[in-house]
Amino acid sequence: MKTMKWKDNRLILIDQRRLPDDLNCFICNTYEDVIFAIKEMVVRGAPAIGVAAAFGMVLGDIAGENLNVVAKKLKSSRPTAINLFWAVDRILKSDNPPLDEAIAMYKEDIDTNLAIGRYGAEIIEKNDTILTHCNAGALACVDYGTALGVIRTAHHQDKNINVICDETRPLGQGARLSVWEMQQEDIPVKLIPDVAAGYLMQTLKINKVIIGADRVCTDGIVNKIGSLMVALSAKRFHVPFYVAAPLSTFDLKNSIYDTEIEERAPEEVMFYGGCRIAPIGTEVINPAFDIVPADLITGIITEKGIIHFDKFSEFFLNMK
Ligand code: MRU
Repeated sequence: MKTMKWKDNRLILIDQRRLPDDLNCFICNTYEDVIFAIKEMVVRGAPAIGVAAAFGMVLGDIAGENLNVVAKKLKSSRPTAINLFWAVDRILKSDNPPLDEAIAMYKEDIDTNLAIGRYGAEIIEKNDTILTHCNAGALACVDYGTALGVIRTAHHQDKNINVICDETRPLGQGARLSVWEMQQEDIPVKLIPDVAAGYLMQTLKINKVIIGADRVCTDGIVNKIGSLMVALSAKRFHVPFYVAAPLSTFDLKNSIYDTEIEERAPEEVMFYGGCRIAPIGTEVINPAFDIVPADLITGIITEKGIIHFDKFSEFFLNMK
């Protein structure tokens, strides 16, 4: 399943706001439509945001806009996932026409996820129960997924795995998107409320945690709110905690503590499934991302292999 398609000079996105009940498309005719789609989370997940923004640059180019201006506007749509900045800058710096570069990025994203899946599946044992948070699946990328890509590969290798999805309040990406993706392929999956993750680790019902990332720095990662609580529980109960992320999600220049954490609308917390669950006028704090320090993370599964934080520089030196 592809989350986006470029056709007749338009970007066609799966509208993730309506899943799992309606599988509809959202069509971007202009780069402003792409900005809207990123802000409103029609398209979401770090790699998918990056590739959609690259096509936003293409739409700006077709309309004859100044690409530096378009780049600035696209970059201001959602601040946390570094893939957005990486993708827009790559189009700006490329010698290729924007469309060729965007199409190359689209294809690379799929190959990258397949490679992450292969490396990640090596750490999965037969009969493992794997907990995941938010949606780092095909829907968060062009296809296949990072954390769910690892799970898919292990499933295809007949490892008889079971998946536990945190619901991922407030927007329910785990419940709405990850559970749906697993069900599409008959991968055994159970949904839990976010607050049950600690209990399940304490009672030995989880063998591994695998999540995605919006940013990987030398001192940790940034990912969907709730990731820190999962990481802390995993450390306490000795459950290996892995992050699956492509190298396009790495920010080697900044600390996790320098990342701008997106604060989203209070309505996302005040309402659940269209129903208001708190008194009118309630003050809300709604940070969309968590900062997870390196000492809580067992390893980062990338398309070039698994990186451990104590061997970070060694890994990048050997890669060159
Ligand atoms: O707010 P979202 O749904 O865009 O947040 C997505 C996540 O936090 C994902 O886990 C992350 O982007 C990695 S996706 C491969």
